[in-house]
Amino acid sequence: MLAALKKYLMIPRLVRLSAGAPRDHHVAWDRFWSSVKTTGATGDVLWDSGSDHEMQGYVHRLHQHLDPRLPVVDIGCGNGSFTRQLAALFPHAMGVDVSAHAVRRALSESAGLANVSYLVRDMTAPGAGGRLGEELRLLGGGAGAGANVFIRGVLHVLGERDRHALAENVRAIAGADGRVFLAETDFQGNAVEYVSHLGATLRSIPSPLEGAIRGLPMPGRFGAKERNLAFPAGRWELIEDGPTTIETMPLSHPTRADLIPGYFAVLKARNWEKFP
Ligand SMILES: C[S@@+](CC[C@H](N)C(=O)[O-])C[C@H]1O[C@@H](n2cnc3c(N)ncnc32)[C@H](O)[C@@H]1O
Repeated sequence: MLAALKKYLMIPRLVRLSAGAPRDHHVAWDRFWSSVKTTGATGDVLWDSGSDHEMQGYVHRLHQHLDPRLPVVDIGCGNGSFTRQLAALFPHAMGVDVSAHAVRRALSESAGLANVSYLVRDMTAPGAGGRLGEELRLLGGGAGAGANVFIRGVLHVLGERDRHALAENVRAIAGADGRVFLAETDFQGNAVEYVSHLGATLRSIPSPLEGAIRGLPMPGRFGAKERNLAFPAGRWELIEDGPTTIETMPLSHPTRADLIPGYFAVLKARNWEKFP
């Protein structure tokens, strides 16, 4: 019992670390990405496992529900590790991120790939989805009917109002024919349990985890309840949802990805023709 409670002695350190994070989340994300020197399994980015294993687990659902003739937009693409994998499945993959430094890195990591493009955009800003849909059509990537949307690990770092704003932009991109695939962490525990799960102990915190705690907004959980609030049933039809696993870079073991319980959903815009 006492041993189980010992991890809570970490709290003062966690509070000290997170006190330094910029209050403006967009500034926080851009500062984080500007500090990233390397990515992948041994890099600085906690959620980039450097492997395609997690994506391979999504592929059959993407094949089953998303029209492979439509382009795909990867919202909150970071360094583009999933955007590049999506480019193998769709005619065009466009990554969008609020951080200019993330997009710069995604561009350099994607050099040589012809059907990938990136944009810096706040996807919670009013009208961002409509403008992006237009740009996609100009690129020749989209039929008038819309595009598919992929979101991984973004909604759980946003507050409720921003999730809803982002969902409305997603609706403008998806249109009548696009489908939305989202995968988010849905850890059932408090912040101390979360960081302990990812290898933090009283003695040490893995460096990529420490970097995230120090610089970024505190993540929340995103499951069926949160999805229903952000993507309400009057606006969205739920095609499929359930548990999934989000993979991070190796933290508590030298070579094995760490696993975070997650939630996935596939959605389509309801009544798009009547209420675009
Ligand atoms: C945890 S990372 C996930 C990155 C990527 N989806 C992946 O799984 O590798 C969250 C990303 O969302 C981006 N982001 C946060 N708020 C955003 C917003 N309002 N609009 C667009 N991107 C945003 C951050 O800059 C960051 O790259």
